[in-house]
Amino acid sequence: MLVLGIETSCDETSAAVVKDGTTILSNVVATQFEFHRRYAGVVPEIASRRHSETINYVIEEALRKAAKAFEHIDAVAVTSHPGLIGSLLVGVISAKTISLALGIPIIGIDHIEAHLYSVHFDNDVVYPIVGLVISGGHTLLLYSERPDHYEIRGSTIDDAVGEAFDKVAKHLGLGYPGGPAIQSAAENGSEQAFAFPRVVLDRKANRYNFSYSGLKNAVINQRSRFQSPGFDDTVENVAASFQAAATDVLLTKSKMLCGDLGIKRIALAGGVSNNARVRNLFSEDEELQTYLPAKSLTQDNAAMVAGAAYHRLVRGERSDLDFEPRSRITGIKKGKRKKDG
Ligand code: KG4
Ligand code: ZN
Repeated sequence: MLVLGIETSCDETSAAVVKDGTTILSNVVATQFEFHRRYAGVVPEIASRRHSETINYVIEEALRKAAKAFEHIDAVAVTSHPGLIGSLLVGVISAKTISLALGIPIIGIDHIEAHLYSVHFDNDVVYPIVGLVISGGHTLLLYSERPDHYEIRGSTIDDAVGEAFDKVAKHLGLGYPGGPAIQSAAENGSEQAFAFPRVVLDRKANRYNFSYSGLKNAVINQRSRFQSPGFDDTVENVAASFQAAATDVLLTKSKMLCGDLGIKRIALAGGVSNNARVRNLFSEDEELQTYLPAKSLTQDNAAMVAGAAYHRLVRGERSDLDFEPRSRITGIKKGKRKKDG
């Protein structure tokens, strides 16, 4: 089964052709970060406008790279939630048009389910698993029994981890997106230079939740308080110490959920799972078996959407042509959330 995937939930316009949920024939991603760079964050109006300008070209390019034509496609899958509503609409309208014109099934796919699916292309995943979806908009700890199932067990009560990377990078003058910039500055710094707080909320209601605003404020507003004797206040040292604190907490919290559930297998996904320290920390942990996505699949992309859709489509699942995209995530029960996108 050939599925055309479409992803426009945030600031990446992407289309992909995936065979049987396993073989990526093409995965075209047009990133918009150049257009958002000067605002040091995603501007929703700019994002939806760029999606409308590039979506047709990106879909054509995905078909061309896969050496397929529209008539070879068996179904179209599109991110339906969560995300920026104006951005989601562009992908959903394109997918509906294709479905209607070709007379093929359409299916709306949850963006978090799609992110988790990204590990499937490079790992033989044995279920159940714990999932950790970490990006600019999400810091989610999940329990999953199958590719088309997840339950949210924890999320951030303030900033997402990628958002903290972006804000700290902006403060340090390292540019946008902040994650890769912090990672490369950190290579020349010391993790011991600043003893930044590792915020582990462990009271019952927040046992699996994260908080990054305390760490962000410590770095931005009070860093001299945390400076270790004998270390200089350099951008590299701040970046390395911040990165260590931010990523240590991801492992601590993941192991709390894994331990409580008696599950050793964990799948990482989302832009921050591209981080070298995160990848090493999890893969070197002897108590966990970590499924990592290919680096090219950590950011938002349509291959993960087409892959996730396959398992639903073979069961006969379809969306009606009048379904609407939603900005919000389903299943957040505890803690307040700042944003979904
Ligand atoms: O999944 P993604 O492309 O988009 C969404 O936010 O949905 O993730 C982007 C986030 C940004 O916050 C970016 O700074 C972060 O992922 N990121 C990284 C790295 N690469 C991207 N964070 C830390 N280290 C990296 N190497
Ligand atoms: Zn995402």
